[in-house]
Amino acid sequence: MQSNLIWDIPTRLFHWLLVGGLLVQYITAEWMDDAMQWHFYSGYFLLGLLIFRLWWGLIGPDYAKFSSFVTGPARVYQYSRQVLSRHHEDHAGHNPLGGWVVLLMLFLVTCQAVSGLFLTDDVFLDGPWRNAVEESTQDFMNFIHHRFFNLLLWLIGLHVAAIAFYSFYKGQKLVPAMFHGKKVTKAKGITSSKLMLAIVLALCSAALTYYIVELAPPKAAVEAYY
Ligand code: HEM
Ligand code: HEM
Repeated sequence: MQSNLIWDIPTRLFHWLLVGGLLVQYITAEWMDDAMQWHFYSGYFLLGLLIFRLWWGLIGPDYAKFSSFVTGPARVYQYSRQVLSRHHEDHAGHNPLGGWVVLLMLFLVTCQAVSGLFLTDDVFLDGPWRNAVEESTQDFMNFIHHRFFNLLLWLIGLHVAAIAFYSFYKGQKLVPAMFHGKKVTKAKGITSSKLMLAIVLALCSAALTYYIVELAPPKAAVEAYY
């Protein structure tokens, strides 16, 4: 079997920036006083990153595409029945079970980033969309921001445990592949990371994020502050 390029550079960068960004979100919200402004900035960055991953999942290289790893229930069931076996099917990208976990993680991080836009730190800072909605919506977003994060933590725990299981029990080198992109597999590798496309999409994602957090939100009436 050959070593083929499976994870393109932007997907790998996305993954490690996502990990770093979530760490910053946790530290700035839970451990540090007076770091809420940084929590906001890093939250906007994560929002942009997720917008990028959405487009990348539609028109990026093969293994980054949602269509390549989001499969139907029959496929997931079939795969689950042999997940404990050491003699695994050769899955170059995400396996059918892992594909859904990935999708769920992306969904939960998106919920965090979007709900944050409606929150307040009760001192100086309001999320940019807070004033645009009613109190019931603010409360709902607050609920999501606090409760979904715990779900996300459980899922991250499961993700890391699954990676350890595949590495040590099944002998698959998944972690190095998330750094250098290559896996030993019979499957066809990708021929390019589509870097030019990634740069254009990254710029568009940054512009859209700026629009969402800076230009589009209705400005609060001055008397709202008094
Ligand atoms: C905050 C913590 C983490 C989050 C939210 C997270 C999220 C994700 C996501 C969304 C993917 C899919 C990538 C894509 O297709 O875009 C992924 C894949 C992957 N992650 Fe993580 N990850 C986290 C931590 C880690 C850590 C600590 C490791 C290493 C020990 C790791 C190793 C991997 C590997 C190896 C894959 C590819 C799995 C495969 O081959 O199917 N992740 N992760
Ligand atoms: C993926 C992005 C984000 C993650 C993972 C995240 C995570 C968190 C966490 C873990 C907390 C502490 C919750 C608790 O103590 O129970 C928190 C609080 C908070 N977050 Fe985020 N956040 C994100 C994005 C944002 C954004 C974009 C904003 C605003 C623009 C924001 C505004 C806030 C505020 C104001 C609080 C404090 C709420 C309070 O004191 O009750 N967050 N966030």
